[in-house]
Amino acid sequence: MQRERLLKVLVVGDLGVGKTAIIRRYVHQVFSHHYRATIGVDFALKVLHWDPGTVIRLQLWDIAGQERYGNMTRVYYREAVGALVVFDMTRASTFQAVLKWKGDLDAKVALGNGHPVPAVLLANKCDQQRLCAKLPKLESFSKEQGFVGWYETSAKDNTNIDKAVMRLVEHIMASD
Ligand code: GTP
Ligand code: MG
Repeated sequence: MQRERLLKVLVVGDLGVGKTAIIRRYVHQVFSHHYRATIGVDFALKVLHWDPGTVIRLQLWDIAGQERYGNMTRVYYREAVGALVVFDMTRASTFQAVLKWKGDLDAKVALGNGHPVPAVLLANKCDQQRLCAKLPKLESFSKEQGFVGWYETSAKDNTNIDKAVMRLVEHIMASD
């Protein structure tokens, strides 16, 4: 018998960092330079044939960057089991906001056992900027802040997006 798991995963980060682009790349294999801000929240679903006995329905919640100033995140975060926290490598302010998003997550949602939901940090738009000198810092930063991993990503060039999602899903499934 096949086991089916529904996993709710949040994608958060400041305005314009590329959350929607990352999801569209991951789910539909497309990219557009056109920017249209997400309003509230959007959803996408990806079905993963995880192993011969398990199908995962990965429900991605694409939270609008502007929601950091709203009061709906508590509702959106409910029952999430993982998160991707995204910043834009070309804009330092979006990196500073990572702490705010991670803090917001940890304050408003937790796993059944009380542990924080696992989160992976994405340094997006790596096609535009190389952060090489800062990478060792990012490694220690992500550890200190309790991320289960971090990746340089590009929705444009399709860099590391599958890997980042896999890292998160593996973590979720392992602690099952
Ligand atoms: P909100 O919905 O406002 O929170 O923004 P968002 O995080 O969903 O950003 P979105 O995915 O809409 O991307 C914002 C802009 O950045 C768009 O013009 C995208 O084309 C561009 N963009 C996203 N990812 C990348 C990337 O990896 N590389 C480059 N060069 N541009 C990107
Ligand atoms: Mg968006």
